Amino acid sequence: MFDTMTITKAVGGLCGSLLVFLLGNWAAEALYHTGPEAGHGEEVSQAYTIDTGASESAAGGEAAAGPDFATVYASADAAAGEKVFSKCKACHKIDGTNATGPHLNGVVERAVASVGDFAYSDAMKAHGGNWDPQSLELFLTNPKGAVPGTKMTFAGLPKIEDRANVIAYLATLGG
Ligand code: HEC
Repeated sequence: MFDTMTITKAVGGLCGSLLVFLLGNWAAEALYHTGPEAGHGEEVSQAYTIDTGASESAAGGEAAAGPDFATVYASADAAAGEKVFSKCKACHKIDGTNATGPHLNGVVERAVASVGDFAYSDAMKAHGGNWDPQSLELFLTNPKGAVPGTKMTFAGLPKIEDRANVIAYLATLGG
């Protein structure tokens, strides 16, 4: 029954399929091999990296995602800013009198916490400096983040255009 020919065929068949398997294995390894000596205790690096910009935006915030404030402010629209200012009107007047917040007449370049008859928070009094467009935009992005302890309970203006436009509008209001 088991003559030499049968055994030879059987062994040949086995070797053939083994060879196919080895070749397939090698091809798969070549295709999907992802890093230096994977599985030998070294860190496997990714074959390629998709740059999502996540690290940049984490570090640079708004600036990394689009034009910086100076650029946006240079072409700001005061008329559009007047509309944005409707969000501020609940607390700020522009007729020289105070409300929940101090009046904002001439606030651009005005000294911080300088409206004499307004009771500022200690945080605002400690701020110092003038409300130049840059510090205003920082404050309006996130009031409580920029001036921790401020009593301005306003969430902030998330859009850079809104900030630039409202500051351009405030700049048109005389002192
Ligand atoms: C919920 C009420 C409220 C809203 C809404 C609000 N503010 Fe204020 N704002 C205040 C208060 C209160 C202060 C005083 C903060 C302090 O003393 O810490 C203040 C302070 C300020 C100051 C500092 C003024 C100074 O004399 O130093 C600026 C500038 C300002 N707000 C701008 C704005 C703008 C612009 C908006 C709209 C985008 C706005 N605020 C919305 C309540 C508000």
